[in-house]
Amino acid sequence: MPSTSADPTQTPEWRTLEQHRDQLLSLPMKQLFENDPTRADRYFIEAAGLSLDFSKNRLNGDILEGLMALARVCGLDEQRSALLSGERVNKTEDRPALHTALRKPADHSVLVNGQDVVAEVHATLNRMERFVSGIAEHAIVGYSGKAFTDIVSIGIGGSYLGPRLVCEALKPFQQTGIRCHFVANIDGTDICETLQQVDPETTLFLIQSKSFRTRETLENSKVARQWFVEQCGDHDAVARHFMAVTANVAAAEEFGIDEKQVFPMWDWVGGRYSLWSAIGLPIALTIGMANFRALLAGAHAMDEHFAEAPLDQNLPVVMAMLSIWYNDFWQAGTHAVIPYDEYLQSLPDYLQQLDMESNGKGVTAQGQPVSTDTGPVIWGGTGSNGQHAYHQLIHQGTRLIPVDFIIPLKTHNPVARHHADLFANCLSQSQAMMAGKSLTEARSELADEGLSTSEIDRLAPHKVIPGNKPSNTLIMEKVTPETLGALIALYEHRTFVQGAIWGINSFDQWGVELGKQLGKKILPQLTGEQDVQADSDSSTHHLIRMFRSANDL
Ligand code: F6P
Repeated sequence: MPSTSADPTQTPEWRTLEQHRDQLLSLPMKQLFENDPTRADRYFIEAAGLSLDFSKNRLNGDILEGLMALARVCGLDEQRSALLSGERVNKTEDRPALHTALRKPADHSVLVNGQDVVAEVHATLNRMERFVSGIAEHAIVGYSGKAFTDIVSIGIGGSYLGPRLVCEALKPFQQTGIRCHFVANIDGTDICETLQQVDPETTLFLIQSKSFRTRETLENSKVARQWFVEQCGDHDAVARHFMAVTANVAAAEEFGIDEKQVFPMWDWVGGRYSLWSAIGLPIALTIGMANFRALLAGAHAMDEHFAEAPLDQNLPVVMAMLSIWYNDFWQAGTHAVIPYDEYLQSLPDYLQQLDMESNGKGVTAQGQPVSTDTGPVIWGGTGSNGQHAYHQLIHQGTRLIPVDFIIPLKTHNPVARHHADLFANCLSQSQAMMAGKSLTEARSELADEGLSTSEIDRLAPHKVIPGNKPSNTLIMEKVTPETLGALIALYEHRTFVQGAIWGINSFDQWGVELGKQLGKKILPQLTGEQDVQADSDSSTHHLIRMFRSANDL
């Protein structure tokens, strides 16, 4: 009987998978490919404009079936329905997690407290559309009558990483000529460097904060406002140049932003799932509303696939269960995401928040300690750059590092043979990870180079690549609003499925709070508003004193 609270490690399905793992120890992937010429066809899924080749995994039919059986016994079907229908799946904050409602077509509906949230979403999208065209057509202009040329988006975490990723990834789709700058860090360099690049007469500041309480965002916004008033000499001009996207309208008003200048957010949208909401305004303002809607449509296509496809042909489910396979049965502990596309360079950063803030949990939704490892460390960077940096560790290091390779079939920038070269690099990496190089192969290569037997003996062990390292290859025809939307939604659902198996709440983030609380106590001690507290630990105490002395405080 499926249960959403069962300890996955105590199920017979878990034990079966352990047995499959033990049996597979003597059967490397290279052998699996040799035994089955149709392997690449069997482990291949297409959905929502994306294709997944997952044949280069430590996987056979029994294991795939076993992973899906584990998903079923952990109540994945029920948990997925609860998520998509708007149940209060975020139990500690008592709210639904309805990012999927943000990309539903207007003729759909999802009720929260008797209200159709899809209607609210579309009312906001329509308002965004009017605003975007008002800016593009110069009906909305700055205080001196000049058109806006730059946006400074001030926000952090989910109010920053998603919009930045999409703005960068869809650069070839920019339509409006508006430049978008992002300020997130409380490091003053971020805001100072940005303000040097913009003209107050033609710059719109967007304060992006679901809570409107995040210290970094509020402090950076105050600096921006002060700079703006100093530059233009007219405090009243703030009303035209500062807007907010928030669920906390009262706090935005307190900051001095008129309610009419506030785009709404809802408590049922998690920060790291919010780029599809008005938090996506920097995206819409640069690529235009039609492209923003295409991004939503791509995500919706993935949502439908996730909701309907059988588990073993379900892209997010298969990717999630493979990740659990390596994390919990092979103790991988990390997972690399390596896009072979410069436009996707911020994807690993984005996925770090999505996955690690969601699944970095040590207790179950019922408050019991988890019985297996949860979220792995997510990391990565663009290929082929990484090949000249960390791929050495992937190929010959002692750790098992599963990789997601992501690459479009076509480039936006055809130049010379670059794209074929890039593709060759990507394929070479997954092939090298899978097949490796045996001692015999290494020795024969060295012999072909004419080396002596003693030199071969000395060098060959260093040239062995163990292989049998797993990877997925995700392909799309081109990076477009639709395929990017589907890609991001895929990872959102993958994250959810993993959390569902582990029985944790993927939608809260209490772990980030302690640092915020302690930071509030430390700040006045650094600035000299308070004496250094004797009760703090000697390390913190010592470092506070060093700061004060260096800054004459
Ligand atoms: O501190 C973590 C966090 O709450 C994230 O979950 C969130 O995306 C980010 O801070 C920013 O929050 P807000 O949009 O409320 O400013």
